[in-house]
Amino acid sequence: MPASTVLSVSDASFAYDKAPALEGIAFDIAAGEAVALIGPNGSGKSTLLKGILGLISRTHGTVSVLGSFPAPLGAIGYVPQAGELDPDFPITLEQVVMMGRYRSLGWLHLPGRRDRQAVAHALNAVGLAHRAKTRFGELSGGQQQRGLLARAVASGPRLLLLDEPFNGLDQKNRDALIGTLERLKADGVAVLVSTHDLELARAVCEKVLLLNGTQVAFGPRNDVLTLANVQAAFKEVGIEMDEHTVVLPGHEGH
Ligand SMILES: Nc1ncnc2c1ncn2[C@@H]1O[C@H](COP(=O)(O)OP(=O)(O)OP(=O)(O)O)[C@@H](O)[C@H]1O
Ligand SMILES: [Mg+2]
Repeated sequence: MPASTVLSVSDASFAYDKAPALEGIAFDIAAGEAVALIGPNGSGKSTLLKGILGLISRTHGTVSVLGSFPAPLGAIGYVPQAGELDPDFPITLEQVVMMGRYRSLGWLHLPGRRDRQAVAHALNAVGLAHRAKTRFGELSGGQQQRGLLARAVASGPRLLLLDEPFNGLDQKNRDALIGTLERLKADGVAVLVSTHDLELARAVCEKVLLLNGTQVAFGPRNDVLTLANVQAAFKEVGIEMDEHTVVLPGHEGH
């Protein structure tokens, strides 16, 4: 495993209780590299992210984050899919982002100057510094997503797992997210982002992992996004493609 490898998944399968959900996964992500996770609804994108986190059981193969599993404490930042969160926190955006610092804060310690700086920096990075004192539940859906990204950024992760961060975002929020991901990559963070959005894949991901209950293909973006591969992944739904673009069919949440 090269020294720069942050995530390494080898011949891995994952299951909910006993029911297999995803099989035959094998790929690596290096520091500063971003991989787009692409596949139809129910293809296992969220399942793979949860398997890497250790939230569901792995029935075969290995997962290693910086050489160990479970990942070293604080190594992973995770932003779950929008429908899976409870946005009704009765606390401010700033407090939500400070939650990303709890590991370094530890119990019985009040936030110090470094924690406050990390929170301010993360809010700046996602363009929400001016909403720091706003109650989280009063933010728009797109702003809440960016707030949760800020929380993950504030924790200083080496691997960032994002589950469909673009769903429901307008162009301005999308551009802000792309800019944030570019900066994190430049700082050496490894990124795995599930998306239906090929524009995001093109903008920030040099590699693509194509899923459909199993791994259809993994590699450099342009090698993987061929008509044959995309048709194999999106079997039951029509795909349009010319030499420049693949058009994925509409998805729920889009
Ligand atoms: N909590 C669960 N218990 C049992 N099976 C589940 C659970 N969550 C997902 N599954 C099953 O695992 C498979 C993969 O689902 P997953 O949510 O990972 O797909 P996805 O690619 O994230 O889909 P979407 O694009 O809709 O978010 C599906 O067959 C799904 O029914
Ligand atoms: Mg999902």
